[in-house]
Amino acid sequence: MYTQGLDQQGKEPQGLQPRESAERLTAFQARIDAEEKIEAKDWMPEAYRRTLVRQISQHAHSEIIGMQPEGNWLTRAPTLRRKCILLAKVQDEAGHGLYLYSAAETLGTSRDQMVADLLSGKAKYSSIFNYPTLTWADIGTIGWLVDGAAIMNQIPLCRCSYGPYARAMVRICKEESFHQRQGFDIMLALSRGSAAQKAMAQDALNRWWWPSIMMFGPSDKDSKHSAQSMAWKIKRFSNDELRQKFIDVTVPQADFLGLKVPDDELEFDQETAHYRFGEIDWQEFYDVLAGNGPCNRERMQVRRNAHQGGAWVREAAQAYAEKHAAQAA
Ligand SMILES: [Fe+2]
Ligand SMILES: [Fe+2]
Repeated sequence: MYTQGLDQQGKEPQGLQPRESAERLTAFQARIDAEEKIEAKDWMPEAYRRTLVRQISQHAHSEIIGMQPEGNWLTRAPTLRRKCILLAKVQDEAGHGLYLYSAAETLGTSRDQMVADLLSGKAKYSSIFNYPTLTWADIGTIGWLVDGAAIMNQIPLCRCSYGPYARAMVRICKEESFHQRQGFDIMLALSRGSAAQKAMAQDALNRWWWPSIMMFGPSDKDSKHSAQSMAWKIKRFSNDELRQKFIDVTVPQADFLGLKVPDDELEFDQETAHYRFGEIDWQEFYDVLAGNGPCNRERMQVRRNAHQGGAWVREAAQAYAEKHAAQAA
């Protein structure tokens, strides 16, 4: 249970000294600077705890909602092999969600609370999942670009200062790398296929490119949580740095596929050894974030229905656990 204002052991008498004294904050920052991991029972500033709960639960919600656009194609995968791969991927995403809810629970919030916040619309999930999957090529593009962007974001999280989150990310990243590879493999098959298949791959890239590079979040100058998260070593790179890394590795992959990235201003800068790219339409990003993307309402409705439909499973599991606890007593 999370006892607000007291540490986990409840040792500190309230009122005798300010809980977040300058000494404590300095000592905490010194541990972070020394690359020590902060563990669940360690003292931490409330803002650090809140930031992590927000970030980890948002991450967990994204994994769970992210199953929907791909689940849409499970029954229509073109071959048995592709279907098995997609099933495995979607199941991995469910696992990531559960893993991350558990990591967030170590910070003293309950999974029930986090799920309630998602269903009420209070908590966010990644905006990318509010776009529809219109063709099979969208499944390839999601693996290649969306899971690819997720890896870029998540590899540094394996070194996050909060131990339970960092450890959860190690396994998640290994699975994300399989997701990226299977997506690229779909794109490779389509881009080497018939003219219609190649056109389908190009169309999917056209629709997913810009939303994918928006996944790194607002530009550094507009990102309100960035500086503090960097100081706490929750984040290791800024949004813009990660976006640039992603573009730098992904453009050559598009070239290899023989597909054109839909950005006329994209150009390799010999001096900086980075790609320059066009203006991002942040209005679209904020519109989708505000709930007005193509699929926001549908995604939430499906999730609410699934939660309601699964009530009997939770009740049965609870009854089973209580029966066993009673027998053991
Ligand atoms: Fe995932
Ligand atoms: Fe994934």
